[in-house]
Amino acid sequence: MSIEFFTRLPLHGETQFLPGDPRNRGDWHRGGPSTGAVSAFNVGDHFTYIDYLGQIAKAAEINGFGGALMVNAPSGEEPWTVCSLLARETRTLKFVTAFQPYHYTPWVAVQQAATYQRATGNRLVWNIINGGSDAIQRQVGDFSDHDERYDRAIEFMDVVKGYWHNENFHYEGKFYKAEGGGLRGPLKKAELPLICTAGSSIPAREFAAKHADFYLMRAEHPDEIATLIADIRERALKYGRTDIRFGLSIDVITRETEELARTEAKRFFDEGIARGAVKAVAAHAGLRTARKLSYENQFAQKAETQGFDDFFIHPNVWTGFGYIGIPPGCALVGSHENVVARIREYNAIGIDLFFLAGYPHLEEAYRLGEHILPHFRSERSELNRPSPAPLELRSANGPSGA
Ligand SMILES: Cc1cc2nc3c(=O)[nH]c(=O)nc-3n(C[C@H](O)[C@H](O)[C@H](O)COP(=O)(O)O)c2cc1C
Repeated sequence: MSIEFFTRLPLHGETQFLPGDPRNRGDWHRGGPSTGAVSAFNVGDHFTYIDYLGQIAKAAEINGFGGALMVNAPSGEEPWTVCSLLARETRTLKFVTAFQPYHYTPWVAVQQAATYQRATGNRLVWNIINGGSDAIQRQVGDFSDHDERYDRAIEFMDVVKGYWHNENFHYEGKFYKAEGGGLRGPLKKAELPLICTAGSSIPAREFAAKHADFYLMRAEHPDEIATLIADIRERALKYGRTDIRFGLSIDVITRETEELARTEAKRFFDEGIARGAVKAVAAHAGLRTARKLSYENQFAQKAETQGFDDFFIHPNVWTGFGYIGIPPGCALVGSHENVVARIREYNAIGIDLFFLAGYPHLEEAYRLGEHILPHFRSERSELNRPSPAPLELRSANGPSGA
């Protein structure tokens, strides 16, 4: 089984302390004297937060990461723009931009991506997201409900693939129509970005089964991940697909010894408890319509005990970050040796793309690059596109022919 490592860039501020802390790098803190780099940033300053992100991207590349995940949140920098800004500062790093079909028309997305691919040597990956909160969707102007967003996403990707592979594409759908059009001339040389998606609702799984090269998950207990993988594989088979692959987003606190790693995790945990971060998480969870992960369901019971150790759901798999409000919520905490062993365990159940990050992202890119990634050197394989799905040919005639 192959394995590949990407990292994640902090597009809404560094979190070497709790989110909002003025000591963090970036200006996402809640006022007060700030000490972090670019935390007192004014528009027009010669060194911007993007420069800091550029440092992380370069560190990731130097340390052997194959790519970087860019998260899309209304409170953060817009990821595709950041990908474009950083592509020319790096040479090999792939950039995973998250966006919703709602953000673009299929044609705009196709043309933008083709331009990007030509300029960067096909280093763009798409993470098609569909919103985990109706309330936040409405804040940004999208009033479609959860399941409708996935129906739209399926059509969006039908049309994107149709435009990408045809010069004269026709489509008549519920959300989109096309009468001719498609990539022509030199833009045709670009490769369609690899498609990632996430979400554990049934419509999200169906969308992934039909259109995704990679189905991404937030880390949970390996048994739950294995169950999810089996379900997605089965759904993909309905579309004649056996090539869907799986990615896992998980933070890492890796140190020379177990004790040193736990001490660093406990630093975050104790600060989170002291600052009442738990309440902030509960408020945020109220906004979310997405399924709670199984370990999140147990948070309410844990409010009584709040013990650091209670949040280990498996050896070295710690969910305390979720409890104190640091996404994605789950981290590998342990000695370098044990972190490597846990990565192998997730790899064995079907994860072949890992998004690993630590705090601060810059320093931890070096630590991961020096102590974790070298163990996998001979097993690494660059991401590439599997052979085209049969769907691409059929969608050229629109949904009636699909
Ligand atoms: C690795 C990973 C990355 C994600 N990135 C984003 C993101 O950048 N922006 C976003 O709004 N949601 C992101 N999500 C959330 C999902 O796209 C999805 O909205 C959420 O899981 C709820 O989907 P569901 O309600 O269909 O289950 C991400 C999820 C995962 C597992």
